[in-house]
Amino acid sequence: MKIEGAVALVTGADRGLGQADARELVRRGAAKVYGAARHPGQVTEPGVTPIGLDITDPGRVAQVAEQCADVSLLVNNAGVLKYSTFIGAPSLDAARQEMETNYFGTLSMCRAFAPVLAANGGGAIVNMLSVTSFYTNPFDASYGASKAAGWSLTNGVRLELHHQGTLVIAVHAGFIDTEMAALVDAPKISPQSMAQQICDAIEAGQVEVLADERTRFVKASLPRDHELIYPPVQEFWDAALKGSP
Ligand SMILES: NC(=O)c1ccc[n+]([C@@H]2O[C@H](COP(=O)([O-])OP(=O)(O)OC[C@H]3O[C@@H](n4cnc5c(N)ncnc54)[C@H](OP(=O)(O)O)[C@@H]3O)[C@@H](O)[C@H]2O)c1
Repeated sequence: MKIEGAVALVTGADRGLGQADARELVRRGAAKVYGAARHPGQVTEPGVTPIGLDITDPGRVAQVAEQCADVSLLVNNAGVLKYSTFIGAPSLDAARQEMETNYFGTLSMCRAFAPVLAANGGGAIVNMLSVTSFYTNPFDASYGASKAAGWSLTNGVRLELHHQGTLVIAVHAGFIDTEMAALVDAPKISPQSMAQQICDAIEAGQVEVLADERTRFVKASLPRDHELIYPPVQEFWDAALKGSP
């Protein structure tokens, strides 16, 4: 799909990767870029049109799809990470919030915009997922579950929208240098280079982006995950438990 001349909508465009995506789309000549955010006043990127949107509010999602009927490229970037374990977490609150945003919010956006994209020639949907779509890490276990659900939904939406010519792209990445990963001391990709990979995939018609070495390794290792992926994760988790008070 050509970005030049397209009309895009990016969720979570006020900061982090969403802001970088919106900037890159403007740079590549998109005719219009809607920057959707819970606080639209914080969308300050030049050339981006702010629009108020909480993706967990189905009524507002429907209104925005009606208001932005010219969209041909939907970038589902908004997401939350609560660093919550399955068993040790004090309640299900974090798991529910992650599922509500990362899975149901993204699904609700895909459903609302599917007819808009069809009316505009098919277009494309980009769903921002994670390396944790492919395996579970206890440190962000319920986040991983929401991204695994997002991976499944992305594959399903691609099948259901094939008939209308919509390109559906799953983007999986390890750590990206944004507020979400601020607590993490590990190699991170810059939001700018991530946005470039996403835009390259849109223009090349790719269905999947595996953004870094770790993500490529994990996906390639899935047939042998209990040999290659989980033993070091278990070791790290056990060591962290021993070190905790
Ligand atoms: N950073 C990483 O290491 C990493 C790695 C892999 C994948 N990802 C994914 O990349 C995407 C972007 O994350 P980021 O790194 O840019 O994180 P970030 O800096 O924390 O930004 C998250 C964005 O999502 C928005 N958001 C959260 N809940 C929302 C809701 N209910 N409705 C609308 N917007 C909402 C936030 O808006 P507010 O400003 O209103 O909070 C913010 O704009 C997420 O899907 C994340 O899961 C991140």
